[in-house]
Amino acid sequence: MTETIRIETRGSVGLITLDRPEALNALNDAVMREVVAAAETFEADASVGAIVITGSDKAFAAGADIKAMAALTYTDVSADDPLADWDRLLAIRIPVIAAVSGYALGGGCELAMMCDTVFASETAKFGQPEILLGIIPGIGGTQRLTRAVGKAVAMDLVLTGRTIDADEALRIGLVARVLPADSLLEETIAVAEQIAQRSRLANAAAKRAVNAAFELPLVDGLAAERAEFLDLFATEDRAEGMAAFIEKRPANFRHR
Ligand code: HXC
Repeated sequence: MTETIRIETRGSVGLITLDRPEALNALNDAVMREVVAAAETFEADASVGAIVITGSDKAFAAGADIKAMAALTYTDVSADDPLADWDRLLAIRIPVIAAVSGYALGGGCELAMMCDTVFASETAKFGQPEILLGIIPGIGGTQRLTRAVGKAVAMDLVLTGRTIDADEALRIGLVARVLPADSLLEETIAVAEQIAQRSRLANAAAKRAVNAAFELPLVDGLAAERAEFLDLFATEDRAEGMAAFIEKRPANFRHR
């Protein structure tokens, strides 16, 4: 039983819905634990090929829980890293899409950026307002945002703490698609379902290769991509995918 999220399966898609309406889905330890555990459980389920993380119409997540953070001392936060478990989300091999409506602020924006891609509704609002609290982003906001949108825009957002709308988020490359609010979730799940029908092995390779572009110099990233590309020739799914094309039929990937 989960306290802060709802978990369900839609076809081959695992759906995680942040559910702390009284705090606009603010992220506390329980949310972190439950989201990470749910994602790991979905990954271990061979019938689930992709994950969607969403919130409510009003808020994807309004950031880390400020009321919980306010009570923490330096000793509390330095004795053990209270945010470390979020990193486990990065190890999930199946694709993860954030479907964002309403506020995605601070840690909420960072959680969206930890996903493989972000689809936003027209009502979505993104920002890194930590500076207004006397802190800075702590789960990748200064790093992933900068890689996603470049230094000038990242500095603008991180130093002013201003909130941007979905169109601006699309323009700067923070989100991949802007969709109508009333169809955001269904359209995102439909895309996730398409992805889930593809080869699980190719999806994992694609994730590793694209993520290598974040981590590695170009020459090393290109080498990583080439190795992933060549490795996929060892898979039955590669043979099936190419045979299906030639035989003019849909592919039936076994390790999807
Ligand atoms: C705890 C929060 C919260 C938060 C909202 N609430 N955001 N509680 N932590 N981050 C609570 C409010 O206290 C309130 O509860 C209820 O949710 C509704 O919020 P309102 O403020 O009344 O709603 P509204 O007027 O519509 O304003 C929405 C809002 C505003 C603009 C999103 O709530 C806001 O600015 N929230 C904080 C955003 C923020 O600074 N985020 C960054 C946090 S730092 P009560 O019971 O009081 O009515 C961070 C660091 C990341 O994320 C580090 C790594 C995780």
